[in-house]
Amino acid sequence: QAVRLADYRPPAFLIDAVDLDISLDRSKTRVAARLAIRRNPAGQAGAPLALDGDGLVLRRVALDGAPLAPEAYEATPDSFLLRAPPEGPFTLEIETDVDPSANTQLSGLYRSGSAYCTQCEAEGFRRITYFLDRPDVLSVYTTRIEADKSEAPVLLGNGNPVGAGDLDGGRHFAIWRDPFPKPCYLFALVGGDLGHISESYRTSSGRDVELAIYVERGKEPFASYAMDSLVRSMRWDEQAFGREYDLDVFNIVAVSDFNMGAMENKGLNIFNDKYVLASPETATDSDYAGIESVIAHEYFHNWTGNRITCRDWFQLCLKEGLTVYRDQEFSADQRSRAVKRISDVRGLRAQQFPEDAGPLAHPVRPSLYHEINNFYTATVYEKGAEIVRMLKTLIGEADFRRGMDLYFARFDGTAATVEDFLACFAEASGRDLAQFSLWYEQAGTPQISVQSDYDAAAKTFTLALEQSTPPTPGQSDKKPFVIPLALGLIGENGDELTLSAAPGETGASGEECARGVVELSTPKRKIVFENVPSRPVASLLRGFSAPVRLAPPQSAEDLERLLAHDSDSFNRWQAAQSLALRSVFARIEAARGGEGADDKAFFDALKRLVEAGEGDPSLVAQALSLPSEIDIAREMGKDVDPDVIYSARSGLRRDLGRFLAPALAEAHARFAPQEGFSPDAASAGRRAMRNVALDLLAAGDPASGGPLAERQFAEATNMTDRICALATLSHLPGAAREDAFAAFYERYRKDHLVVDKWFALQSTIPEVETTARVARLMAHEDFSLANPNRVRAVVGSFANGNPTRFHALDGSGYALLERVVLELDPKNPQLAARLLSALRSWRSLEERRRKIAETTLRRILATPDLSADVSDIATRALG
Ligand code: ARG
Ligand code: ZN
Repeated sequence: QAVRLADYRPPAFLIDAVDLDISLDRSKTRVAARLAIRRNPAGQAGAPLALDGDGLVLRRVALDGAPLAPEAYEATPDSFLLRAPPEGPFTLEIETDVDPSANTQLSGLYRSGSAYCTQCEAEGFRRITYFLDRPDVLSVYTTRIEADKSEAPVLLGNGNPVGAGDLDGGRHFAIWRDPFPKPCYLFALVGGDLGHISESYRTSSGRDVELAIYVERGKEPFASYAMDSLVRSMRWDEQAFGREYDLDVFNIVAVSDFNMGAMENKGLNIFNDKYVLASPETATDSDYAGIESVIAHEYFHNWTGNRITCRDWFQLCLKEGLTVYRDQEFSADQRSRAVKRISDVRGLRAQQFPEDAGPLAHPVRPSLYHEINNFYTATVYEKGAEIVRMLKTLIGEADFRRGMDLYFARFDGTAATVEDFLACFAEASGRDLAQFSLWYEQAGTPQISVQSDYDAAAKTFTLALEQSTPPTPGQSDKKPFVIPLALGLIGENGDELTLSAAPGETGASGEECARGVVELSTPKRKIVFENVPSRPVASLLRGFSAPVRLAPPQSAEDLERLLAHDSDSFNRWQAAQSLALRSVFARIEAARGGEGADDKAFFDALKRLVEAGEGDPSLVAQALSLPSEIDIAREMGKDVDPDVIYSARSGLRRDLGRFLAPALAEAHARFAPQEGFSPDAASAGRRAMRNVALDLLAAGDPASGGPLAERQFAEATNMTDRICALATLSHLPGAAREDAFAAFYERYRKDHLVVDKWFALQSTIPEVETTARVARLMAHEDFSLANPNRVRAVVGSFANGNPTRFHALDGSGYALLERVVLELDPKNPQLAARLLSALRSWRSLEERRRKIAETTLRRILATPDLSADVSDIATRALG
């Protein structure tokens, strides 16, 4: 069941119109579909009609109004074949039964709480009716939904509402019509007894749109931040990309059982309620930021995904990478651009870099898959967004915008490819993008090494750059990438030097100097800068201008100069990270008998930042947030021992906490909550600073930090301050911690999103007892394998956020994961596969752990009746 990009053929048939009549019932929902079908002039002539299905029960089938003879077709739960379809256009009527209550996969039509909802991307529509379930078949949909009026007073579909009415027997119906042709993965319906908030929106050209967000009854007030984010997203897309909304209504529905974050169904986005519901008392600043970005992401898909969709699933990055890029830019404009960039790069390095360095590595546009659901990855999404960002850096803002305009104009209403997309930018900029397109084809993170040399006599500064990309599965040799390297030179007194190119082929071009971006498109490049009065420090890869690794790290003195003086705030933060990493590695060496860390200058620099008191507290907070254990493991690359990393990092935190104690205590007091709560970036930055101070104080001196955290926990006026205090306490064993957890649960037990935080925090306690605690949590009355958020909170947090326990030498962490994956697999294979990918970096572990991980993967793979999802991950992981 391997699917290959090279095998793409246009569909043999097109389905112009789809009329659905869906009668909702908890265990027997009747789906009547009427499909207007014709042969595709561009498809294979004379082919039979083969429709996709998945677990369907066929009730009735008719061709042009007449029942089909049994020998004319062949139907199984997973396929429907019409042997000799007419040459001309025809109508096929198909009636199927589906059981939403039995649908534990959360793909197709299922129940979440008391509501009916759907998830069709990537291949869920075939679990509702037989269809050409591929994104290049675009149809106009009319959907009639019928249900018990008491059970489901709200009935929502794609497009605009065009009719509704009451029926006998307490039933009612609604009719929705979506005039925009779309692939079936964008189909959705919702039925239930839901509350809602609404808002009117006028587009820049004067169209009126009714916006509504539907939530569990009683939760309406918690949707207001999501609504505010939606309105800001709609305005921003008009201003930044000239894109307006196109229907009379836009509905969002929040459900609590959802495999992913949210889904961009046309006019009817369905969300994991975690990305809709918020209040100061229940949501953290990062929850608010998550809501803002996911609301924007799904809304932006209306143009990048829906109006222009993907020809096939290999092109997934065409909509996802581009839409992530758009939501990142939106959040950057709404908040602090520098802080947003830092957090996006943290995420990319934490998720995508390990993926790219391990056995699950794949190109942003893969060329082969066994299970498409396993390709909704950090590589497709986040690295996909980095490619769009690089494209803009390379061709410049104006040409980028012209390319986007051309893309929208040319491909509106079609199912496009990455080539189509790139051609627009090649045309708009006059630049050949053939080499650039390798970013879509080649997996692996390029490494850039830099040699610098200052010639005092000639007053020249030379950078010798070299790129190389490690082999990845199926790709042993890599061609050089086009890498935009934003840079600057920092002089002795910390001033930014004007870049001036030496003439000749080793110079940077005048344009490169003027923009501060040089291009590395060959394996090596030497660049000479002139008129450099004294030895400068190069600030390289400013703003993280390309998704690459920069090696080797600069000297401590150079990094300190950058931390103090770089005009690029991203690289100031990067310098602090690099200095912290140096310290951690020195400590690891010291534990092996080497020389210890000398952190004096680094700590002094951080002290000045904390004391300065001016500027952006959220940037100071970022500088004080040390690289995570996972960051350190990634930098180590091989023979990783999580225990060694943990103790080195803890030592650094303890020493830094002690050194900075007076400044931290002062900052903790200075950034105490002000009157009233606002989720805006400036207020969030103050809270971030206060809480990173608290955490470091407690790391330096638990005897004073513990009581401070207890007090903050008890007196907190918002969830950020409360959960951060609890997180700090969670690292301090004792009765106070257990009391705090108990109090937290009592206070929030009715709010499932907060209870998820309670579960997650306990799963990440870095202590031997935690594995047993996680087993206990899984026996808790509030735990359920049926709810993906809960499973992620308990098991996902343990496997991805507790390295010492997950990788415990006795194998207990892997055993726990194995047990959950195998129990979950028959119920929800998508989620099981995702949990299993926590083992994706097993090859970089030290030998003993590597052996246990490998045995675990082999045992999982040998289990009978494994889903395609889990066996695909296990097979590739073992590679
Ligand atoms: N298109 C959705 C988004 O990124 C993700 C849906 C993925 N669903 C899945 N089952 N793979 O917004
Ligand atoms: Zn998306």
